Amino acid sequence: MATTLTARYAANGNPIEVIELAEEALAAPANGEISVKLLFAPVNPSDINMLEGTYGVKLPLPAVAGNEGVGRVEVVGAGVSDYQVGDLVKTPSTRGTWRQAVTCPAADCIKLPPSLTPEQASMIYVNPPTAWCMLHDFVDLQPGEWVIQNAANSAVGRCVIQIAKALGWKTINLVRREELVEELKALGGDIVVVEAPDTFKQIKTWTNGKPPRLALNAVGGDSAGTLSKSLGDGGKLVTYGGMSKQPIKLATGPLIFKDLSYHGFWMTRWYANRSAQERDTMYQKLADLFANGELKIAVDKVCPLREIKQAVTAALQEKRGGKILLNLQ
Ligand SMILES: NC(=O)c1ccc[n+]([C@@H]2O[C@H](COP(=O)([O-])OP(=O)(O)OC[C@H]3O[C@@H](n4cnc5c(N)ncnc54)[C@H](OP(=O)(O)O)[C@@H]3O)[C@@H](O)[C@H]2O)c1
Repeated sequence: MATTLTARYAANGNPIEVIELAEEALAAPANGEISVKLLFAPVNPSDINMLEGTYGVKLPLPAVAGNEGVGRVEVVGAGVSDYQVGDLVKTPSTRGTWRQAVTCPAADCIKLPPSLTPEQASMIYVNPPTAWCMLHDFVDLQPGEWVIQNAANSAVGRCVIQIAKALGWKTINLVRREELVEELKALGGDIVVVEAPDTFKQIKTWTNGKPPRLALNAVGGDSAGTLSKSLGDGGKLVTYGGMSKQPIKLATGPLIFKDLSYHGFWMTRWYANRSAQERDTMYQKLADLFANGELKIAVDKVCPLREIKQAVTAALQEKRGGKILLNLQ
């Protein structure tokens, strides 16, 4: 039987130590299955958390790592009518995407818009939809309305900036490094500042007295408090990440006097609760933004799968210029 190279982990722990290369058998597709040659997969914070064992779900070990990624269909098994050789597909996260190839049920795959480049397609499952959904699902944003976020240089943060701009909303973007200010303004951020304890005091001036009703938090700690103090009446603070690894610290006053509400968002839950049609409609809108140049995802470095430990090491570095992308061929 043929084999395929994978990056897997047999125990949770230090991501650089537990990730390892291993060969796995690759079966020919049975009835209802397809074989997919994987092309690219990013290293996301959630992948790091899976290796650590700190993520919201766990896989039986050993497991192949990688939540998102893209491949092209190589062989279509009997009884499969909705896939053709060459289709761009997202293969199931439960099988891991940091691999050269996989044979799996067609029903567990997602066909992606053909207009996407393989690099774009490999990163359309997690970060752009997270930005899209958070901008749509919590507040009925009106044209010209403001949104505030921290971790604005993250992949999600950059998608928020670009999608908001494309859809006619304005963004206040908090970063932790001065050198990002001009870069994120050039990307479309309306206000970009290095976060400080008194940042919230400037919100009324920046927004001409119309403070945001939506704040997006991927940092936690004091930064979540800054966001909550920046919100206007009835505002919603949506937490989707905790990069500082600190519990969110929120002021009591704004919660009471401004009738704020605090929410969590998890893309995995969205996928579980929504229909394939809603998902595919969103993907097509994102693909259109990619196609007309309104949405880009920054890539810091492309690493071959064989250099998986170097790739994970690079992903753990602070102050990256974008995603670490695995080239799986
Ligand atoms: N809930 C969901 O469904 C969902 C979906 C996607 C992502 N996420 C989460 O969203 C977060 C961002 O993901 P991503 O893939 O967009 O990230 P990313 O591209 O890997 O970037 C990480 C970002 O975190 C910032 N950062 C790291 N440590 C920090 C700290 N101690 N304080 C403040 N900022 C810090 C970095 O700042 P610099 O730019 O200055 O280095 C960078 O902008 C992660 O927590 C991820 O797990 C959640």
